[in-house]
This record gives sequence, structure tokens and C-alpha cells, in this order.
Amino acid sequence: MHSRKTEVDVEGRVRLVMESALTARDRVGVQDFVLLENYNSEAAFIENLRRRFGEGLIYTYIGSVLVSVNPYKELEIYSKQQMERYRGVSFYEISPHIYALSDTAYRAMRTERKDQCIMISGESGAGKTEASKKILLYYAVTCPINAHMATLGDRLLQSNPVLEAFGNAKTFRNDNSSRFGKYMGVQFDFRGAPVGGHILNYLLEKSRVVHQNHGERNFHIFYQLLDGGDDNLLTTLALQRNPQNYSYLVKGNCPRLSSVSDKNNWKVVMKALSVIGFAEEEKLLSIIAGVLHLGNTQFGEGEEGETCITTETHATNVAKVRTFPPVFLDVYPVMITPLNFEQAMSARDALAKAVYGRTFTWLVEKINQSVALTTPYDFIGLLDIYGFEVLQHNSFEQFCINYCNEKLQQLFIELTLRSEQEEYEAEGIAWETVQYFDNKIICDLIEEKHKGIISTLDEECLRPGETCDASFLEKLEDTLGGHPHFVTHKLANGKTRKAMGREEFRLLHYAGEVNYNVNGFLDKNNDLLNRNLKEVMCQSHNQIVSYCFRREEVMDQKRPEMAATQFKNNLMKLMEILGSKEPSYVRCLKPNDAKQPGRFDEVLIRHQVKYLGLMENLRVRRAGFAYRRRFEAFLQRYKPLCPETWPNWHGRLADGVSTLVNHLGYKAEEYKLGRSKIFIRFPKTLFTTEDALQAKKPEIGECKNGFPEWRCKGRLLVIILPFIKGFIYRHEDYCPENEYFLDHVRYSFLKNLRKNLPRSVLDKTWPTPPPSLVEASENLWRMHMRNMVVKYCKRVQPEWRKQMIQKVAASEIFKDQKDSYPQGVGRLFLDSRLEREQINLKVVQTLGSDKVQYGVPVVKYDRRGFKPRPRQLLLTNTFAVLVDKTKIKQRIDYAALRGIVRHSSDGCLLVHAHAATLNPAVPPPQGDVVLHCDHVIELVTKLAMMASKVNYVNINPGSITFAVARGKEGIIDFVRGSELKVAKGKRGHLLVVSQWPFVCHVWSSQGDF
Ligand SMILES: Nc1ncnc2c1ncn2[C@@H]1O[C@H](COP(=O)(O)OP(=O)(O)OP(=O)(O)O)[C@@H](O)[C@H]1O
Ligand SMILES: [Mg+2]
Repeated sequence: MHSRKTEVDVEGRVRLVMESALTARDRVGVQDFVLLENYNSEAAFIENLRRRFGEGLIYTYIGSVLVSVNPYKELEIYSKQQMERYRGVSFYEISPHIYALSDTAYRAMRTERKDQCIMISGESGAGKTEASKKILLYYAVTCPINAHMATLGDRLLQSNPVLEAFGNAKTFRNDNSSRFGKYMGVQFDFRGAPVGGHILNYLLEKSRVVHQNHGERNFHIFYQLLDGGDDNLLTTLALQRNPQNYSYLVKGNCPRLSSVSDKNNWKVVMKALSVIGFAEEEKLLSIIAGVLHLGNTQFGEGEEGETCITTETHATNVAKVRTFPPVFLDVYPVMITPLNFEQAMSARDALAKAVYGRTFTWLVEKINQSVALTTPYDFIGLLDIYGFEVLQHNSFEQFCINYCNEKLQQLFIELTLRSEQEEYEAEGIAWETVQYFDNKIICDLIEEKHKGIISTLDEECLRPGETCDASFLEKLEDTLGGHPHFVTHKLANGKTRKAMGREEFRLLHYAGEVNYNVNGFLDKNNDLLNRNLKEVMCQSHNQIVSYCFRREEVMDQKRPEMAATQFKNNLMKLMEILGSKEPSYVRCLKPNDAKQPGRFDEVLIRHQVKYLGLMENLRVRRAGFAYRRRFEAFLQRYKPLCPETWPNWHGRLADGVSTLVNHLGYKAEEYKLGRSKIFIRFPKTLFTTEDALQAKKPEIGECKNGFPEWRCKGRLLVIILPFIKGFIYRHEDYCPENEYFLDHVRYSFLKNLRKNLPRSVLDKTWPTPPPSLVEASENLWRMHMRNMVVKYCKRVQPEWRKQMIQKVAASEIFKDQKDSYPQGVGRLFLDSRLEREQINLKVVQTLGSDKVQYGVPVVKYDRRGFKPRPRQLLLTNTFAVLVDKTKIKQRIDYAALRGIVRHSSDGCLLVHAHAATLNPAVPPPQGDVVLHCDHVIELVTKLAMMASKVNYVNINPGSITFAVARGKEGIIDFVRGSELKVAKGKRGHLLVVSQWPFVCHVWSSQGDF
């Protein structure tokens, strides 16, 4: 009972202390195949799977690979509590689970800062997509939440139902089969919160749009739209509710599914689209409707024997949904005139496939835009991709899928062996050669330039003259005959020949032999769409379609890449992405074909174990040491088995492990000690140790329960003494005497700081750091401030941002220069001080395309008699004008502005400009312009900013001299007084009386004033 009690760990999380699964191995097999004694036996492997599956244990490890068997029923192992159990717990401490794998990848990303990828493979219906969803959900629930970015995480989660609606379909093997390969990268921010991502898609099964096998369906979205769309929507799209009315939906004779509600899923998809932030739903759905209408378009023979459209209504509907451009109906029949009936049908289907396929790619792009982050954060990639496929008849698609699996296997070998080797090197253990089959030879056979199958296929598609699938097969025989992994009916010996058709070639994949029928290879590789149709589609009113069929593509004379080459290139990129990350693997198995819970079909499982290469996985893993564990963990678990290590070992960890294994009688060939880990070669050694521990457990339990009092006291001494000693030595350099104390002080400071961080940039409080953390504390303060500033700036609205930019410029100009400036800081700048209707229409017309950006009433003083004249000063982007009611009196081009202004605190300002003007129609100023304005700070700031002459402004006290006309000068005197007055003073000077008799003197930075 004691071992089943719950314990609260340090961080307050509740964890169920599990019985070691090692002890329960006899009842439910081994939870890690690596511990299987007879690891070369496929029968033992399958028996272990069967026993565990019988107990509802669907997960088993092969080292760090997780094998998962589809239970075909809801299990109680995915709850939030279960997620908590696996959070932060070491991989082997607790029973195998998809959460354990997810958590391990997450922690490796966080602690080692290495991007991760989880590769999920298995045949159709084995549970890949379910596994990937469980991983995503685990991250969504257990990772910290970044409130600011939460929507991005949501969008990523919501991309699943959308992609499933458009990319999944009911097949014979799976009611929700993904008909495309998917790699989803999840991005985490610096706190470990999932905040964004991106998706790559591979090889959508487009042929499903126009044809489905018996019992299968088209992509879900077609049925969801018909079942869930409201009446108005269907009327707009000219659709009828019954799927049986559409020839693209009746081929499989399976309009409805018992396991799925199209209506409910429609709601889910629509909601997901809105979360993702889609604005193009209507256009997207009209494409779906357009494809259905296109499918119903039929052909017949015209009066002169030409092929023409015979189904008027459907043709009209095609036009109605505006997916296909209006010219489509004119051009399409004309264009297809030279085609016979079959060719016309196949052109129609090719168009439907192309439109759907490209729309799907567009959709993925759109989701990517919605979830993308620009900052390069940490990554976990999830690869949900088709597993090895061996059907009764294998065609081009199986060839591509199996090629993809060869590449993944190659990567697996490379990465597993590499990581194994790296681990041995890091631990200082001599590397022992591992015998394994390197499948590079098969990858080369398929992808090698000029010689490989894909090159040969491309060549055959492009070669002039008569080519067909049979000629492709012959070419393969010529180039690849004699290759150990390639054989055809003609090349084979008697026994193999019997098992092969004449149109087949056989590849000996790493996982087994597969016969491919060459029929259709050339067509599928060509994937051609009539050029005229492409041209027509460029003119579609539907922006998604016109985006997908770009004019450049039609203009481009270069031939597009063939399908297989495209796939090959995409795979290369994928391998590059995966190769740069730390991999984890989930291998999914399907227990029966009937989708039934509890049924374990051994033949089916054996087939998958073979084609997933699981025995090979195990052999590679077991080639070195079966088991490895860090010294701390090993010692912690098994220390009760040795009197010297129990209850505590105080020396070096390696010595402790060495003492322990010596006491247990391990032989030299059974184990090796690395730098931080012990490696155990045979599972038996470990089991014996584990059995000994179990036998000892009651004794340990007693010991723990009746913990003697002297030991408690001893423990206190163990803690307090180093503390006191550390206090005494606290001013010394870090040394064994003070390390405990100094660490404690540092830890306390950081903990205290965490709780007392300033909440705003104006808050200057900060806990005092201990001497050893002064520099760190300063850096932390700087980082924290910067972080707060960045956060603040991100929240600032555009209007407010504009205001702030202007205020900063005003501050640069006036701060400490003008006594009245501080009083005006709080006053907001306005966009303009003149209403639109206050500016005369004639003036606006004269200004033409130069829009008024700012206007303000001013008083202009004549340079000679200082007579005040009310004016409007209008600023455009390139010049300022002085306006008298309906007339532009003066124009000052910013380019001709020499120094901007002199102005005083009371509102006087002076504009110096060259006489030149860029517009001869309006007179330039003859001398300096003397103005008075109530909003002088605002005006000077705006003028200086617009003219990009902020640093021309210089302010100093005293009288100012200004140019009256050529060579003549005037003077303005400033005097302190209680009332503002601007008038003609003595000696013909202009006298300004104000409270702040300091002149704000604006100089040209070039010093020419
Ligand atoms: N862990 C699980 N628990 C319960 N049911 C599951 C689990 N995994 C899979 N299933 C069931 O099996 C079905 C098929 O699984 P899933 O769609 O994930 O297969 P897949 O490997 O992605 O197949 P495909 O290659 O066709 O896309 C699911 O719809 C679900 O009913
Ligand atoms: Mg799937």
C-alpha cells in the first residue's frame, strides 16, 4: 500500500509513485523491448506486444522509440491528471506513454536548447494523427501560457480540424484518413509557452477529388458543406443538399458515415476558420461548390462531330459560383473541340484536381501566415506521414510513400547511430561497431541523378517520340538490370518470376519486397493540366483561384518539375529540417482491419512490425548496451542494496556506483562506467538487481517509517553546520566551506527578486544583491527594464505612437532651452488647428495634390512697420504656405529653408528661407518671416519634423536680428512684463513683452545665422 501512496513533490505537484514497471514485467511483458532477453526473435517481440495490448497497455518502448498500438476505444489515460503525472518526470520512471515522449522532447528543448522533432509513422489507421493531436494537446495544457500570444497557440490547434476537413477522407482502412503528409513545427517562446508554428504538406491525394473506391468518400469538406451549410449559403452556391446529386461524390457509394457527423464537424471547421482569422471563407467554399458543379458537367457530340458541354444547368452553375471565370464556358468547349469525349472528361477531371490541390496548398500557406512568428524561437516538429504501404496493387503513390519511408529509415539509422556514438564518446566508452543494414543503396537506386528510377521516369516523360509505361519499364531494365534491390518479370529467376506480373517491377526495400505496377506512372508523374485551361483560370474572379493560377506560370516557358522530382526535392528539404533536430520516434501499429477494440490480429501485426522495421530498430538499439542510466539515478534507486551506499553515499558518484556494482557482483563484461552514466549490456543483469531491490523493499519501508530520532538530529546538523561555517567564510572566495551558504544567499536573492520585480519603468526599487551577484543583478535589471519597455511599446496604439514621436522631437528641440516648455509637455499635439472647412476651397485647389498635413492660425508682422496681419500657416509634405483668406501669399519650400525659426516663449517665431522657391506661381519670402502663434511649440515641432530639420533649431536668449530685405536687418527686443504685448518699440525695433523674456533662438546647424 505504501508504494501506491501519493506524494507531493517539491514543486507541489502530485505524482503517483508507481510500482516499478520492471517488477511487473512478467505479468505485462517488458515495457522496453530493449530488455527483451531474446531480442532477435520476432515471435517474442509480438508476444510482448500482445500481452501488453491484452492488459490495455498500448505503449511500449524500444529505447527512446515509442511503439503504440491503436486501441480503437477511448482509454482513461489522456486526462489532465495523467498529463500532470508525466510532467517533468524522467522517461523510464513511469510507464510508457505518448506524454512521456512529449515531455522528454520538451524538456530536452528547454534545457539543452536543441530543436526537437517527433516522427510518427505507421500504416493507415494506425493512429498517427491521433498521436500528433495528443502531443499538441499535451503542450497546450501543460506548458506555460503566454497571454499575449495565446491566440497564436489557439490558431495552431485549430488548424487541425481545418486541415482534416480539406485533407482527410473516409477510406476503406480509416474513417478519418489523412490523404497528405504533414510536418508541423511548434514554436515555443523563451518561457516555454507554445506561441506559433508552421506547417509543411506533402503529396495530397488529388485523384480522390474525381474518383473514390467503393465504400470510400471524397474529402470531408464536400459532405460537411452540403450537410452543415445553411439554406442561404447553398442557394448562393447553387448547391443541393443531397450528395447523391454530385457525380464526384457518388463514385464510392458512401455518402454518410455512422462514426462522424458532417453537420457537427462543419460547425467545428467554421469556428476554427474564424479563430485562424480567415476572411476568405466565401471564396473558399465557392471553389468547393465549383468543383462539384464541374464534376456534373457532361459532354456530348455537337452537330459537326465536335465535343461540347451538354449539361446546360451545371455549366451555368459553374459560372454562377464565379470560381471559373466567365470566359471559361466560352473557351472551354471551344478549346476542347479537338479533344474526343474521353480526353474532354479527363481534361475536366485534371482541372478539378488541379483546382482542389492548389487550393489546399493555398490553405496551408494561409494557416502558416496566421500562425507564423518572425522571432526564431525553440522548435518541436511533429511529422505525421504515411508509413510503408504494401497493397495488393501498388502504384505511383505507393512508390512515393515507400521512397519517403526509405529516407526516414536512413535518417533514423544515421541519427540513432550518431547519437549512440556521440553518447559513447561523451562518456569516454570505446565505440563498438554495430552491424546493421544501411539502406542508402536503395535510396540511391530511387533518387540517383541520371541513373535512378525517378530520373529514368522523368526522362521517359520528356523524351520525344512514342513513350508509355511499358517503355519506361524497359528503360528501367536497361539501366538498373543486375542491381541487387531491383528486379522485373523479365529479369527474375523462375520462382520470383511466378510471383510477378509482366507490368511490374520489384524493389527490395529495407522492410521487405514490394511489387509496383507501372501502369499510370507516366501520367501521374506528368500531372499535366492543359495550358489553355491554366490561362483561363488566371482570369478567375475568385482571388484564391487567380492566386493559385498565376499568369507567370503560363508565361513561363520552362517546364514545371515532374511530380516525382517535386516530391523528391520536398523530401530532401524535409530531411534537412529533420536532420538538424533531435529526433524522437512514435511507431504506430494497427491491431486489426475491422477497427474493433480488443482484437489483436497477429498476422497483421507481424506485417507491420516488418514494414516499420521495428526488429531492425531493436537490433540497432541493442547492438551496444541495453540499458544506461545516470549515476545519480542508478545510485538513488539501488543504494539500499549495499551497506556502504545506504542510506547515503558521500563520495564521488562514480565511486558510489562502482562500490555498489562490486558489491552486487557485476562481472567486467556486463557493464561499463562512463563519465556520468553506467551502461549495462544485458537485461538479465538489470533484472537481477531489480529483483534484489524488490526483496529488500519491506526492510527499507520499515526503516523509513521508524526513522530514528538521532538521525533527525543528524540531518539538522548536516544542514545547519555548513550554513554557520559558510556565514563565517562568507567574505572569502567561493570554496567548499562557504559554497552552501553563498548558494543559499544567491538563491534567496533570486527568489526574492522574482516576487518583487518592478512593475513599471518608473518604479526604481530593486532588491539589494549579495556581493557575488552585483553584476548579474545589474544585467537582470537592464533586461527587465528593456523587457518592460518592449512590452509597453508593443501595446502602444498607432495614434499614441505618432503623438509620442512628436513629443520626443519637441523634447529634443526645447528641453532645457525654453523656460515655459515643461508647462506645455502634458498638452497633446493636434493633427491640425484648422478644421477642413476653415481652409478655403480655392487654396486647396491651388495646392492640388499637395495635401495639407497641418494648419494653424498665425499673426504675421510686416517686416518694416510690424503691422499685424492674421494669416493661416499650412504645412504640406514639401512646403509651407501663408494664406490670407483665399489667397496664398507666400510659399516656403522646405528645401529652401535655411534655418527654421527664431521664436520666443510668448509665441514669436521667425522663418529664414532662401528667396528661391520651387513654384514660380507663388512668391517666395523676400526676407525672414516674423510670425506669432499660440501653439508655437507644436508648430515648430511639426515644421521641423516635416522639413527634416530638427537639429537646425538652436535657442538662446537676447534680442534677435532678422533680414528685412536684401542687406537690411530688423531687430526684435524681448522684455519681461506681466502682459503679453507685441508692438513697434524704440528705434524701429519690434518689442515683445512677455512673462518669459527669454528668446528661443533657432539657429541653422550650419551656423549661417
Ligand atoms: N490512442 C487512441 N485512442 C483511441 N482511439 C484511437 C487512438 N489512436 C487512434 N484511434 C482510433 O483510430 C482511428 C484512426 O486513427 P488515425 O486517424 O490517427 O490514423 P492514421 O494513422 O492517422 O491513419 P491515416 O494514415 O489514414 O491518416 C481514429 O479515428 C480513432 O478512432
Ligand atoms: Mg492520419
